[in-house]
Amino acid sequence: MDRVRIIPETYDKLGVINNKGTGDLNMATIRKAGPEDQQFLREMLYESIHLPPGADKPPFSIIDIPELLKYTDDWMKETDCGVIAELDGNKIGAAWTRQFKDAASGGYGFIDPAVPELVFAVRPDYRGRGIGTTLMEHLFTELNAIGFKKLSLSVNKKNRAVNLYKRLGFEKVKEQETDYLMIKSLANPPCFR
Ligand SMILES: CC(C)(COP(=O)(O)OP(=O)(O)OC[C@H]1O[C@@H](n2cnc3c(N)ncnc32)[C@H](O)[C@@H]1OP(=O)(O)O)[C@@H](O)C(=O)NCCC(=O)NCCS
Repeated sequence: MDRVRIIPETYDKLGVINNKGTGDLNMATIRKAGPEDQQFLREMLYESIHLPPGADKPPFSIIDIPELLKYTDDWMKETDCGVIAELDGNKIGAAWTRQFKDAASGGYGFIDPAVPELVFAVRPDYRGRGIGTTLMEHLFTELNAIGFKKLSLSVNKKNRAVNLYKRLGFEKVKEQETDYLMIKSLANPPCFR
């Protein structure tokens, strides 16, 4: 487990601290994900779904459609890799990858069986405080340790997260109607913040 300093909490329009905890609000912990985190990863998978402005949230059960279930079912398989952020004892974000054997079984971001796909989300109240960046730094380290050389993702072109992915060294390899397919080589020097 690694204690990391995050950007201090902000205040919403009513002056309420954007953080409900009672401990040190500016220290998060990052740890490896384990089999016990499956339900949290399901919640984060739901949070990772991109919605156009004003769109209604889909029912939570959407994460059980086959196209999404493949990112969390049977967690954790031998080549699954993930990290969890906790603040004040509560899980607040996750980044994880899963390897797929071919395009038919792979997800939206599939490129190659050797390149695992990323899923990534932080709870809404905690976004924009550096937690996502820190999670990714740790995930890259874990993936490197396992021996993965690259990871890929699919992101909606209108998702602000595209900025973050570019800063983290992801490059666009394919532009589809609504999404970019992006890849990051873990051999690249890190370029955090
Ligand atoms: C993307 C996400 C995991 C980043 O975590 P975070 O803790 O907010 O990230 P950081 O504070 O380290 O970095 C800030 C960057 O995150 C991205 N970000 C911040 N809030 C965001 C939001 N509500 N939606 C999407 N991306 C967001 C932006 O790229 C931002 O950089 P910018 O201000 O220059 O645009 C988090 O914002 C999130 O869960 N967003 C919704 C789910 C999502 O889009 N997941 C990715 C699917 S491909």
